[in-house]
Order: sequence, then structure tokens, then C-alpha cells
Amino acid sequence: MGRLPSRRYASEDLHIRGVLGGGVAQASRDQWSSSFGFFAAAVGSAVGLGNMWRFSYLTAEKGGAAFVALYLVFTLVIGIPVLLAELTLGRGAQKGPIGALAHFGGERWKALGALFVVTGFLILSYYSVIAGWTLRYALESLTVGIPRDAAAHFGSVSEGADAFLFHALFMAITMVIVGGGVSRGIERVSVVAMPLLFVLVCALALYGATLENSAGGYRYYLNADFANALSLDVLVAAAGQAFFSLSLGMGAMMTFASYLPREAHLTRESWVIASADFGVAFLAGLMVFPIIFALGLQGAVGESTLGALFVALPGAFAEMGGTGRFVGLLFFVALVVGALTSALSLFEVVVSAAIDELGWSRPKAVLIMGVLVTLLGAGAAWNIAVLDLMDQVANNLFLLAGGLALAVFTGWVMDEPIAEARAGLGSSRGLGIWRFLLRWVVPPVLIFVLWHSVPATLENLWMFFAG
Ligand code: PFF
Repeated sequence: MGRLPSRRYASEDLHIRGVLGGGVAQASRDQWSSSFGFFAAAVGSAVGLGNMWRFSYLTAEKGGAAFVALYLVFTLVIGIPVLLAELTLGRGAQKGPIGALAHFGGERWKALGALFVVTGFLILSYYSVIAGWTLRYALESLTVGIPRDAAAHFGSVSEGADAFLFHALFMAITMVIVGGGVSRGIERVSVVAMPLLFVLVCALALYGATLENSAGGYRYYLNADFANALSLDVLVAAAGQAFFSLSLGMGAMMTFASYLPREAHLTRESWVIASADFGVAFLAGLMVFPIIFALGLQGAVGESTLGALFVALPGAFAEMGGTGRFVGLLFFVALVVGALTSALSLFEVVVSAAIDELGWSRPKAVLIMGVLVTLLGAGAAWNIAVLDLMDQVANNLFLLAGGLALAVFTGWVMDEPIAEARAGLGSSRGLGIWRFLLRWVVPPVLIFVLWHSVPATLENLWMFFAG
């Protein structure tokens, strides 16, 4: 999936940077060592639980292919423009969100950057709880096997001390890698993890095709019933998913782009990242639905919830005996790998902000922020309803509002975004359309979506706290 041969980035790039907008060369700042390194890390950020767990459960809950089609449209019309905006801001300023927004918009934009960092903090704290479940399931598949009564098992491990323990373990792994730095930690892991994940997902999708009775799964997944599926609720979910899946609206891609040299070709990067992200989500559907239908578990799909994937699929694997256990192992390893590379980017947002804005050393930032994220995740680990709520608040409010602010900032506030985006080896093709979308399409679409998602999310919050 890479664009080989990979270009190595010369360290001299550090010194030729900064033509436009005064991007500042900082000799001490880490940098990706090759274009493939950045690509692997960025795709690693995008591809994660969002593609496998969230995409599948939303597709099931929101009526199959019509949801998928909408999600694709949102990816094209609002996802890619905002992705390119994030890459442009990050590379141009050579800073994470707080510094980048201040660089291009002045000090008062720092607050938005700070909000992004808080969002990263919030998402990572519950994302890591789910990642902890996948880690546990992978270890269990390898050792004792997942019990046949998958629903009871999920009930006992998804909340409470066990869930917290695996969340903390997952956070510890994330901390070790991010502690290693950008090129020596995140990049080194991503260049191995991403190809591995891709091979695993392809293999599992092919396996799904070999199962008897899988046809119903494909039919469910690929037959669009727009008449029944097009509702505001589906629209909001598809927009939120487009942002979540591409890691947009909170400066993760901006942070990663801040370690890019000037020569990086941003328009191409954004297309390739978005295609890889959608491709993996689509493949994940091709693996999940046939397996579930082949085993007659479509009931679990119909009443899909956050936990369905952790109940229906392990149940299915357990029914299949030895093969199932092996397939289950591959499946959960794929989930762990995807979750880990995404968590790296979430954590890097928080860590780089502490380094840039508070002047902390990387080890100090990793340690303090890692412990805080782990503690904040305790709520989600103790109660799945809290996790669900955090996911809704993060996606339906923060990411969408963040995306809106980014589009307005890049489209209306920033000087010469087009020149900044095409700096280096970039081309101008399509950049006029990009700015048009950022100005006239992304904001109205997101305002419309927020108009509906804000009251619904606040109501859910209210209901939760009012008991
Ligand atoms: N894109 C990741 C996924 O699909 O699992 C989740 C994510 C990572 C969201 C990083 C936001 C982010 F900044």
C-alpha cells in the first residue's frame, strides 16, 4: 500500500525550510526519516479501532451499505479537505496544534489548539480501554482460548478492575514507544505494524469469502437501502465517523505533519492516506459481516451495540474450533496493532504540546501525561456507559466542532493557504477546489450536522447524569 520506492528525507531539509509563513527550522526537532515513515505513521493513526470496531458496529447499527456510502461521501467532501488543511498547518509551522494555530493566526488562536490537545487526552483515555479489551482477547486467543459464552465473558472483562488493568498495560506500551521519539519510536513501529495489519486484514477478508453461507453477510453489507437508512441520525454518525477514522479535528495529523520536511507532497499524501483508511475499513466489513452471517449470528448485528464485535465475533470463532481460535487470534492481533498505532498519534499530540508549550523533556511529558490519561480512563474502564458517552461527546461534539474551526481557519483566516499547501514538491492541481470546499462546503455541512448532533449528545449527557 506504500508508494515505493520510499524517499529518504535529507537532514538538510531542516535548514531549507521556512520559505512561506516563516516556518522555523529547529535543529533539535525530530523528523521522519523517510516519506514511507511518515506515510506509515499517518496511515497508522488513521487506521485503527475506528476502521474495524467502530465502522463495523456503526454499519450494522445504521443499516448497512447506505451508511457506508454516506461515510465515503463525507470522507471525500469534508474529510480530505480538512486532512490537507491539517497537514498544511503542521508542516508550515513545524509545531503541533497550539503552536501551529498561533503561528498562522496569532496568539488568540492558541485556545483552539489547547482544545485539540484536551480532545486528544479525552479520546485516548477511553480508546485505550477498548484497546485493552482487544489486547486481552488477543492474549486469551493465544493461551487459553476465549470461552464459548462470549457474552458472559465480555460482560466480565469489559468493566471493572480487569478492564482497567489491560487499559493501563496498553497505555504503558504506548508510553514506551512514544518515549522513544518520533523517528526512533513511532516511525520504527509504524513501518512494521502497518504492512502487517494490511496483510492480516486482507487474509481475514479472504477467509470470510471461503465460508459457506457468507452470502447473506455480503448482501447485508453491500446492498444499499437508502430509503430506510437516510435519516439525520445516520448522517451525523457518518460525518462523525469520517472525522474519527481519519484522525481529524483534533490536530493529530497536524502534529505528525509538523515533523515533515518542506519537500513533502501534501496533496498526494492526503489522497493516499484517505484511500488507505477507507480501503481498510471497507476490507474490515468484508471480513466481519460474512463471518457473522456464516454462523447465523445476524441477530447480534441487528441489535448491534458498542460491544457487538466483542461478543458476536469471539462467539463465532469459538464455534469454529481450532481454526476459529487461530482466525480469532489473527483478528485480535490486527485490532491491537491498529489500536496501538492510532494511540501513538493521540498521545503524541498531548506529549508534543507539553514539550513545545511547557518546555518539558520528552520523558517527563510521557510519564506525567501517560499517568494522567490512564487515570482519566478509569471511568470508562469501570462503566461501559461512561465509555459510550465519552465516545459520543468526543466525536459528535469535539471532532466535528474542531473540524469546523479548522476549515474556517484555513479557508478564511489564514493568509495564502494554497501557496503553503503546495510548497515543496506539492502541485497546485485541485487546490482551488480545496479552498472552495473549505470555505463554502465544509462549514455549512458541519454546522448542519452539529445542529443535530449537539442537542442529541447533550440530551444523552443529561439522561446519564440525571440517572
Ligand atoms: N483514527 C483512529 C481510528 O480510526 O481508530 C482514531 C483516532 C486516532 C482518532 C487519532 C483521532 C485521532 F487523533
